[in-house]
Amino acid sequence: MKKIPSLSIAGTFLLLLLLTIVACGPEEPANPGPIDEPDDLLEFTYDPENYELDYPDYLGQIEIPEDNPMTVQGIELGRRLFFDPILSADSTMSCSSCHNPVQSFTDGLATSPGIDGNLGSRSAMSLVNIAFVNNGLNWNGSLQTLEEQALEPVTNEVELHETWPNVIGKLQQHPTYPQFFREAFGIADRNEITKELAAKAIAQFERTLISYNSKYDQIRFGSGVFYEEDEINGRDLFFFELATGLDHPGCSHCHGGVQFSEPSFFNNGITEAATFADFPDKGRGEVTGVPSDNGLFRPPSLRNIALTAPYMHDGRFATLEEVLDHYKSGGHPSPNISANIQPFTLSDEDRDNLIAFLHTLTDTSFINNPAFQSPF
Ligand code: HEC
Ligand code: HEC
Repeated sequence: MKKIPSLSIAGTFLLLLLLTIVACGPEEPANPGPIDEPDDLLEFTYDPENYELDYPDYLGQIEIPEDNPMTVQGIELGRRLFFDPILSADSTMSCSSCHNPVQSFTDGLATSPGIDGNLGSRSAMSLVNIAFVNNGLNWNGSLQTLEEQALEPVTNEVELHETWPNVIGKLQQHPTYPQFFREAFGIADRNEITKELAAKAIAQFERTLISYNSKYDQIRFGSGVFYEEDEINGRDLFFFELATGLDHPGCSHCHGGVQFSEPSFFNNGITEAATFADFPDKGRGEVTGVPSDNGLFRPPSLRNIALTAPYMHDGRFATLEEVLDHYKSGGHPSPNISANIQPFTLSDEDRDNLIAFLHTLTDTSFINNPAFQSPF
């Protein structure tokens, strides 16, 4: 066994001193006053800087809620909260446990375990270009705004399984969060920290998660990058109806436009069901209560799709090859399968070309953007 050198008392003292100096370096904000002191945050300046989202026009328009303007300080607070396990009951998980930047803010799992190890029933969704989604969030469009959505994972039993009063308590007693809340929202007192403010900050951060530097975008910009031959064939298979009748992949019916999505809900034939009551996950029907909406889901954006396996709301397909084999087969019968899901001919080479095109939607500068990484 290696001998561990024992530190002398003086050595230990010096080490502790050094650690204290490092820990209290100029980066660290000063500790706010005691928790029961009124207006304890007024010593910190509230001077929020407007943040202009920067993205090309062709991506569409982002609606910023009037009561939650984007600020540098709000986004920074949101980024901290997003990556901080303080939001979970046992401090083991954060939003980023299931929405990890490296995997375009997914987790590589079919369905994700929450803090107690119990699996949820759906696959974590990518947050790429989430600000452009305008037909409801989640696989079935159950929530409208990012502010509303950000409240949900904290209390969800198969996610962070915490209570908001606990989280607020932890944030109020934290050495630095009260100051960050003041800088972002102008509160005077740490007792003014609320879940609504926390959700606003997280939503601000999420709106910055914009990708527009994939090969597909670079070609759109005309920046001197060109498709390879296999990618061109793949693009044509994806967008155009090459053959007569329905013998074509027809992907762009439901993954069209620059977000490779569609503001609607479809049954893409992954689940066999004899009647509307037979879908194990009711999907859109859970939101509307209309039986014929059962089994319909939102077609997610295919941006960064090569990074977000496994696929579909329950993560049933491990690879893009499996996804294409599914579509090629025409899917499983059910009462409301989309008319655009039909068997089509696709050679192995065409399949590989389609996948090559899907890889042009990968944006590595997005996943490596320092502004999107954990601040811890
Ligand atoms: C245990 C894993 C897990 C954790 C932790 C988690 N999420 Fe999710 N997230 C999911 C799953 C699964 C879905 C899809 C839910 C559904 O469709 O019902 C989702 C969906 C979302 C969506 C909607 C995406 C879209 O395209 O509509 C957003 C936004 C989101 N999560 C943000 C967050 C935030 C913010 C946190 C932290 C406060 C968080 N998530 C924590 C698993 C997780
Ligand atoms: C009729 C509409 C429709 C058509 C046509 C369609 N899709 Fe989809 N796609 C969807 C829906 C809806 C989902 C989500 C389904 C679910 O999870 O239950 C989806 C999911 C996907 C996913 C998984 C996304 C993820 O994040 O897990 C991929 C990949 C995909 N489609 C690729 C394609 C390709 C490639 C084509 C063409 C061969 C295609 N789709 C044609 C509607 C469609």
